[in-house]
Amino acid sequence: MLQRLRCASSSSDKAVMPFHGLAVVLLLLCFASPTSSCTEHEATTLSDFLGGLVPGSNGGLNVSWVNGTDCCNWEGIVCSSDGIVTDVLLASKGLRGVISPSLANLTGLLHLNLSHNSLEGSLPVELFFSRSIVVLDVSFNRLGGHLQEIQSSSHGFPIKVLNISSNSFTGPFPSKTWKATKSLVALSASHNSFEGPISSSICINGPSFAMLDLSHNKFSGNISPGFGSCSMLRVLKVGHNNLTGPLPDGLFNATSLEHLSLANNGLQGVLDGSSIVKLSRLTVLDLGLTGLSGKMPDSVSQLRRLEELYLDNNNMSGELPSTLGNCSNLRYITIRNNSFIGDLSTVNFTMLDLRIADFSMNLFTGPIPESIYSCSNLVALRLAYNNFHGHFSPRIGNLRSLSFFSITNNSFKNITNALQMLKSCKNLTSLLIGTNFKGETIPQDETIDVFENLQVLTIDDCSLVGKIPLWISKLAKLKMIDLSVNQLSGPIPSWIDELGFLFYLDISSNNLTGNIEIALTKLPMLLLEENVAKLDPKFLELPVFWTPSRQYRMVSAFPRILCLENNNFTGIIPPEIGQLKLLDGLNLSSNSLTGEIPQEICNLTNLQILDLSNNQLTGEIPSALSDLHFLSRFDVSNNKLEGEVPSGGQFDSFSNSSYSGNPKLCRPMIDNDCNSRPSSASGKRRNNLRRALVIGITAGGLIALILLACFLIARLAYDDHTENVVPLRRRR
Ligand SMILES: *[C@@H]1O[C@H](CO)[C@@H](O)[C@H](O)[C@H]1NC(C)=O
Ligand SMILES: *[C@@H]1O[C@H](CO)[C@@H](O)[C@H](O)[C@H]1NC(C)=O
Ligand SMILES: *[C@@H]1O[C@H](CO)[C@@H](O)[C@H](O)[C@H]1NC(C)=O
Ligand SMILES: *[C@@H]1O[C@H](CO)[C@@H](O)[C@H](O)[C@H]1NC(C)=O
Ligand SMILES: *[C@@H]1O[C@H](CO)[C@@H](O)[C@H](O)[C@H]1NC(C)=O
Ligand SMILES: *[C@@H]1O[C@H](CO)[C@@H](O)[C@H](O)[C@H]1NC(C)=O
Ligand SMILES: *[C@@H]1O[C@H](CO)[C@@H](O)[C@H](O)[C@H]1NC(C)=O
Ligand SMILES: *[C@@H]1O[C@H](CO)[C@@H](O)[C@H](O)[C@H]1NC(C)=O
Ligand SMILES: *[C@@H]1O[C@H](CO)[C@@H](O)[C@H](O)[C@H]1NC(C)=O
Ligand SMILES: *[C@@H]1O[C@H](CO)[C@@H](O)[C@H](O)[C@H]1NC(C)=O
Ligand SMILES: *[C@@H]1O[C@H](CO)[C@@H](O)[C@H](O)[C@H]1NC(C)=O
Ligand SMILES: *[C@@H]1O[C@H](CO)[C@@H](O)[C@H](O)[C@H]1NC(C)=O
Repeated sequence: MLQRLRCASSSSDKAVMPFHGLAVVLLLLCFASPTSSCTEHEATTLSDFLGGLVPGSNGGLNVSWVNGTDCCNWEGIVCSSDGIVTDVLLASKGLRGVISPSLANLTGLLHLNLSHNSLEGSLPVELFFSRSIVVLDVSFNRLGGHLQEIQSSSHGFPIKVLNISSNSFTGPFPSKTWKATKSLVALSASHNSFEGPISSSICINGPSFAMLDLSHNKFSGNISPGFGSCSMLRVLKVGHNNLTGPLPDGLFNATSLEHLSLANNGLQGVLDGSSIVKLSRLTVLDLGLTGLSGKMPDSVSQLRRLEELYLDNNNMSGELPSTLGNCSNLRYITIRNNSFIGDLSTVNFTMLDLRIADFSMNLFTGPIPESIYSCSNLVALRLAYNNFHGHFSPRIGNLRSLSFFSITNNSFKNITNALQMLKSCKNLTSLLIGTNFKGETIPQDETIDVFENLQVLTIDDCSLVGKIPLWISKLAKLKMIDLSVNQLSGPIPSWIDELGFLFYLDISSNNLTGNIEIALTKLPMLLLEENVAKLDPKFLELPVFWTPSRQYRMVSAFPRILCLENNNFTGIIPPEIGQLKLLDGLNLSSNSLTGEIPQEICNLTNLQILDLSNNQLTGEIPSALSDLHFLSRFDVSNNKLEGEVPSGGQFDSFSNSSYSGNPKLCRPMIDNDCNSRPSSASGKRRNNLRRALVIGITAGGLIALILLACFLIARLAYDDHTENVVPLRRRR
């Protein structure tokens, strides 16, 4: 998983491509203009800048930046017709080193773009307060230190666009400086570590100030009412900081605001109806995870331009305004994890642009509102963790674009009917319907095999009876299935390996019987890395929650696991299990398995969790298990094992509880009566060596433990938690 993360982040390198294209065009333009060349002073100044870079990491600039040639022809340099350097455009060049203050000596420089490099050190104050620079972009570098404050200056600075985001700047944010930057239009300082209060002096002085992004820092204190003076401010993003206090009335004087984001701060108080209605141009209102309480004011429905509304993870309550449907341009709404009540049917959801709606984790009652079925562009709908009930309407088939549908943990009835109705939603890829349909019979109906695009299916914790139905074998794209905590009986079907994409199977806590089906050991996605490459890396429309703090945005990021625990399986653990080389977790505990632990299990080198506890296994624990370097949880307790517990590798970190309930088993370091057994000295030496090699990997194992929570935080719904609202317990 870590590997996959790393790959994903490197994909941002793609941004390099268009810039190369741009640079080429710019170069051609330079060659084409028959103008006078740049001055020697400018060439020297640029050479000084080159001198500040690490020689091997200057993006090949030294090829064209040659002393004695016209610097207007140098890569990334644009000159005016009279040979004055106006633009230095060196984004995404792989530059390392420091930014030389000499650039401030280019007195005609208007546009400096050094973004997406690896530049370090501080931002030279001379550039920040240049007499010529209009656009300064040093975003996505490794610049740090404090930003120097400038006392008010007799003259102003011409800077209009300043982007210092995604660096490592610290300390307070300048407040006085802005007296001298009256031309400023856009300022982004997001993704740094600035702290202290946010001063609104920035807009008092900039009459044309339109965009401020200070999100993802460590700012604290109240939101200044002074932002109300930002009469031209269209975008204000101060989310993901440590701001406190209420939403000040004054803020709502900034009536040009189109995008307001205060998400993830420690605010208090309510969203005042007479205030919010003043921001009639809002298209994005993001107040998620802010601590707001109270009702959603009726006047929200007067924000006719609203396209995105985020009020998730707050303490809001009461009914939704019945007029909410007047926000006819709404595309995205989430009110997840609040205490809203009432029957959603009072709202007319006939919103043709609505694509994503998340009402989960509230106290809504009643049926799914009929009007939702008119939202023909709806892609994702989550109603999970409420008290919805009733049957599904045939009209749900109107939702032709529906891809993600979650109703987990409500009181819906008649699973046969639900699946029949949903059949028409041909685009469904994720269907999460667990903790409903209590005690019903799982339909065996052959006509249900039409979910041709389904990748994720969870029908857990429904106490369903019956056999694992054959129609599941027809869901050819299925990657992840969870049928745990039901009362399903019969064997594991032998067609299971027909599911060519399946890599996550949880059928734990049922009443299944028979042997560990041999077809399980042939699941293509668990066999060969080449097969995994076929998985499409599509993003989920809504994240699926695994633990309160971990969410998955891609199905392919889920761990590869087989959870068969808590059933009534008998027979041996088939040695063929050793073929599932890609398996991250295997849980066979609490069954009636007999025989020995097959040696072949030692070939599952990706394994992070292995739980064989509470069976009737005999024989010794294969010593080669200590070669499983990622194993972070191991449990063979309550079996009939004997002999010595392996040592070395991860095995030095497992506690006694991993082995308890095996009277004939002994740990060489702890039990004294192992002495009677012959122990291999050379084996021990090998183990010590290996231990040294593995120390580094152990840390990886710990991270893996956190990542792969399947068995530890067993049965917590993947679907739907953020806070600690749902205790970490087994859902049995
Ligand atoms: C700087 O260059 C990058 C990459 O070409 C571009 O995305 C960005 O918009 C530029 N910055 C400004 C302020 O124009
Ligand atoms: C080019 O000029 C700069 C500044 O004058 C100087 O530091 C550098 O050594 C020169 N480079 C070469 C290759 O002569
Ligand atoms: C540019 O710098 C690189 C790395 O320092 C060096 O390998 C290369 O020869 C230089 N090219 C020129 C034309 O000086
Ligand atoms: C700017 O140029 C002047 C004169 O050429 C020089 O003395 C000064 O050091 C330069 N400043 C920087 C920051 O390079
Ligand atoms: C947020 O601010 C509070 C006090 O206002 C402080 O106790 C807390 O440590 C701060 N949290 C962070 C993450 O800075
Ligand atoms: C907001 O506007 C009202 C009325 O226009 C005015 O009385 C109040 O002082 C203003 N508040 C701020 C902080 O600008
Ligand atoms: C819901 O809104 C739509 C479009 O505005 C309208 O056509 C329909 O009559 C409304 N339905 C109800 C029950 O008010
Ligand atoms: C169904 O999904 C496919 C592929 O994602 C998409 O091209 C198509 O437009 C979707 N159909 C509808 C009706 O949204
Ligand atoms: C469940 O739905 C099916 C199909 O819609 C219907 O035939 C059946 O009678 C329903 N069962 C119950 C118990 O309502
Ligand atoms: C589980 O299966 C056994 C044997 O088939 C049966 O006796 C028992 O009643 C079943 N238990 C449940 C809860 O279905
Ligand atoms: C397992 O099956 C046996 C016999 O078929 C039955 O007695 C026992 O109750 C079952 N155990 C469970 C947990 O269902
Ligand atoms: C383990 O895998 C290796 C090669 O990957 C193979 O040679 C060996 O036979 C396997 N061992 C077992 C016990 O399956």
